[in-house]
Amino acid sequence: MPLSLTNKNVIFVAGLGGIGLDTSKELLKRDLKNLVILDRINNPAVITELQKINPKVTVTFIPYDVTVPIAETKKLLKTIFDKLKTVDILINGAGILDDHKIEATIAVNYTGLVNTTTAILDFWDIRKGGPGGIICNIGSVTGFNAIYQVPVYSGTKAAVVNFTSSLAKLAPITGVTAYTVNPGITRTTLVHKFNSWLDVEPKVAEKLLEHPTQTTQECATNFVKAIELNKNGGLWFLDKGTLEDIEWKKYWDSGI
Ligand SMILES: NC(=O)c1ccc[n+]([C@@H]2O[C@H](COP(=O)([O-])OP(=O)(O)OC[C@H]3O[C@@H](n4cnc5c(N)ncnc54)[C@H](O)[C@@H]3O)[C@@H](O)[C@H]2O)c1
Repeated sequence: MPLSLTNKNVIFVAGLGGIGLDTSKELLKRDLKNLVILDRINNPAVITELQKINPKVTVTFIPYDVTVPIAETKKLLKTIFDKLKTVDILINGAGILDDHKIEATIAVNYTGLVNTTTAILDFWDIRKGGPGGIICNIGSVTGFNAIYQVPVYSGTKAAVVNFTSSLAKLAPITGVTAYTVNPGITRTTLVHKFNSWLDVEPKVAEKLLEHPTQTTQECATNFVKAIELNKNGGLWFLDKGTLEDIEWKKYWDSGI
């Protein structure tokens, strides 16, 4: 099951964010063949800097907003598959944290991730003659246990965890394996300042940051370890510099 990242083609949605950028740097230490970063942020200087880290890896940036219609995502993916021929891993990491923005939070954190995943299945699904693939979705500890003052954000992350667990169980049918990487509180601008739902806790960010956190580098190191461990259905918990595959207690089973 362990996966060597050497010579692999990786698409990283949100590879330039706080956690994303350090994880991209960590991935580049692994001699990938291609790292294709899709992000809403466009920062050519950072892409040049990334390219310098490991000249063996081709780093490409393509602007991408996960809220575009799925047909547009498929078109974009087609250009990538046409060029690279194969893609081994898709990392879905786009996220926003602002419980004043209900529709946008659901659209970016959940619908965008589901649509991007659905779009790549066109190219990977073994039922369509595809080769299969690996989906790595960024969830959150709030998907296990909500920060209840941000129920909209937490709800989207629970949805990501649940959706990804289904993908993992569908792997025998689709050929596509999946797992979540669920960071604990990591010091990025995302958690620095944010709105609670209906302002139930105006000091939610300050209160959260009084508790132990981790750096983006700590998170990134374990993020790439989880990718290399490559466990279908893995529920990776990355908190305060540690990495653990957690056990999800099963209270109910559809039986089908
Ligand atoms: N920082 C934490 O404590 C923490 C904890 C658990 C999970 N996470 C999750 O990790 C991921 C990265 O968060 P971060 O802390 O690095 O925050 P960040 O704000 O630095 O990064 C967010 C990333 O998402 C991208 N993004 C936002 N909207 C997008 C859109 N519409 N289309 C494409 N990309 C979009 C941004 O451009 C950026 O790359 C998010 O999914 C977040 O929910 C963060």
